[in-house]
Amino acid sequence: LEDAKKIMLQEDPSLPPAVRIKLNNKSVELGTRIKVFGRIHRLRSQKQATFITLRDGYGLLQCVLPAGDLTKTYDALVFAQETSIVLYGELKQLPPGASAPDNRELQVDYYRVLGSAPSDLDAITNKVSRDQDPWDAQMLDNRHLVLRGETASAVMKLREFVELAFIDTYREMHFTKVSPPAMVQTQVEGGSTLFKYDYYGEEAYLTQSSQLYLETVIPSLGDVYCIEKSFRAEKSLTRRHLSEYTHIEGEMDFIEFDDLLEHLEEIISRVVDKVQGNAEVAAYLKLLNPGFEKPSRPFMRMKYEDAIEWLNKQDPPILNEEGNVHSFGDDIAEAAERRMTDIINRPIFLTHFPVEIKAFYMKKDPKDLRVTESVDVLIPGVGEIVGGSMRMEDYDELIAAYKKNGIGPEPYYWYTDQRKFGTTPHGGYGLGLERFLAWMAGQHTVRTTTLYPRFMGRARP
Ligand code: 4AD
Repeated sequence: LEDAKKIMLQEDPSLPPAVRIKLNNKSVELGTRIKVFGRIHRLRSQKQATFITLRDGYGLLQCVLPAGDLTKTYDALVFAQETSIVLYGELKQLPPGASAPDNRELQVDYYRVLGSAPSDLDAITNKVSRDQDPWDAQMLDNRHLVLRGETASAVMKLREFVELAFIDTYREMHFTKVSPPAMVQTQVEGGSTLFKYDYYGEEAYLTQSSQLYLETVIPSLGDVYCIEKSFRAEKSLTRRHLSEYTHIEGEMDFIEFDDLLEHLEEIISRVVDKVQGNAEVAAYLKLLNPGFEKPSRPFMRMKYEDAIEWLNKQDPPILNEEGNVHSFGDDIAEAAERRMTDIINRPIFLTHFPVEIKAFYMKKDPKDLRVTESVDVLIPGVGEIVGGSMRMEDYDELIAAYKKNGIGPEPYYWYTDQRKFGTTPHGGYGLGLERFLAWMAGQHTVRTTTLYPRFMGRARP
């Protein structure tokens, strides 16, 4: 070690100046002398050379340090996974028979370590990033390190693109983006999942959905959407529930129920097309979920009533949560819904849920007043990814609905006013971005599709 400390590397001034590149730069020519900043992603020391796979958040590059002074410095002896470093050298074609990212490698002639890393960290990051067990507390505690892994970072790259693809699609469809408040004093999806807090002495909540606010701006902005956080105090630990999630919500004016279904099919399909049509993102998708296929259109449509019959017709029948055969009016719980979706194995628009099991604001089907003009989009492997409906238009009907649901109408005056000042047939939906991603990226749970998952018992790191 003492000998190693004496070796001081120096950049050879006779070499051409190095061009700084990011690792996704594929246009820089072989033979160019470059410098690259990054962290050691993988490390392999052999007799004739040390091999570093460098990671910079844009890509990976194999860097070769030929045995000699470069591999004998103190820094080189303590190289560890996650050490940050800048490397200089000539970009070369990979020798025949070898394999490395983008078929190229850096023949290093000089480097500087910027930040060392303890070598005991290797064990943690390797373990947690390899087994990717989303229920494992160690994995969750080390989320900040797991995010450095290839799988987690691919999910995050895909996530960014999917969000932008939704924005692009909404723009193509002439929707206006708005940003409703997260701090509210009204509920949307039932009192049992409200996060309550003290707002200057008044009771307030973290929003469950921006829907009511979206409805207030369609008269002035036309069709609108938002991509905001929603919060649910879910009291169970499941694969698909978070307490904070990203909610993509759209609201459309002057439509009928069928228009809502058409729109949902269109936007989901266009977003998938955009992902598959972008080479870089398609590569992440392929890494994560090689079997992913765009769903064929039209999506299957099934009424709630027919789904109940379908569940009961299976051999053996798929039972409700009480262990009985389903009857009209039962909630189709997560387990039954998932089994049905997995057996049918294609996206389903499940429609016309009974009034009693749906939210207060949903419009009744004029042809069958027992049910609402509502839709859940169910996807194999995940279950419900979208909930939507037509909205009650009539003033008196809405007032009666508040009453029936035990909601005091006063705080909702601004929502009710929409029925007073030129009411219209309108409807919309909410799509959970994490569930959409769990589907596309083939993730077992939504927990691995969000940066730092929040669910019952976890608000760290
Ligand atoms: O079906 P939900 O509760 O519908 C609404 O909130 C409507 N107000 C939306 C609207 O019409 N604008 O939720 C919509 C979607 C679900 O289909 C699901 O994808 C997601 O939001 N979601 C959750 N995602 C993760 N964790 C949770 N706890 C979620 N709750 C709902």
